Amino acid sequence: IFVYILLILMSYLYGSIPFALVVGKLFYHTDVRESGSGNLGGTNAGRVLGKKAGLTVILLDASKCCISILVARIVTHYMGLNTDIIYPCALACVIGHCYPIFAGFRGGKAVSVAIGYALVTNVYAFVIALVIFFITLKLTKYVSLASILGSATIVVIAPFIGYSTVGIITNACIVGLLVYKHKANIKRIKAGTENKITWM
Ligand code: G3P
Repeated sequence: IFVYILLILMSYLYGSIPFALVVGKLFYHTDVRESGSGNLGGTNAGRVLGKKAGLTVILLDASKCCISILVARIVTHYMGLNTDIIYPCALACVIGHCYPIFAGFRGGKAVSVAIGYALVTNVYAFVIALVIFFITLKLTKYVSLASILGSATIVVIAPFIGYSTVGIITNACIVGLLVYKHKANIKRIKAGTENKITWM
């Protein structure tokens, strides 16, 4: 049980690293919380600092769940423990990203971390979510709506693509949190005032 708690704690702490803030401050001397949507995520980093920074933050944020899950897989494999622990670890990682201890508990909206989660838990989920994401983005130009619909797809298809029960529950929790963190975006979409991307 001690190992499980340690893995979950480590996942939360790694998820808590505010990469959008780190990249902005370190390389651009800019606090991305003070511009654009103010969100600590890849979209806002791209909006405020440029595409290269946005992509870097997306990749670093996506690494959060990938690394947390891979570490949990390796440890449970070699210690002969229950591999389902990857799911609580992933959820802790996403919670860390959204409510980071290193940035006043005000973090991102779980999009890039969820992409990393899908990639390492189920490649079908990853591909289908990305397809829905890009179709929605192309049609609406809203990253937020594309993120919500792309991730929601994972919940809908999870039972058909091989997720275990604990996986299905974890997907629902992660996507629920993602949608909750987008509540201001949802309001802006309804009001017609949400930011649109200009490059697609
Ligand atoms: O990356 C999160 C995205 O879905 C919305 O971000 O900055 O437009 O609120 P933002």
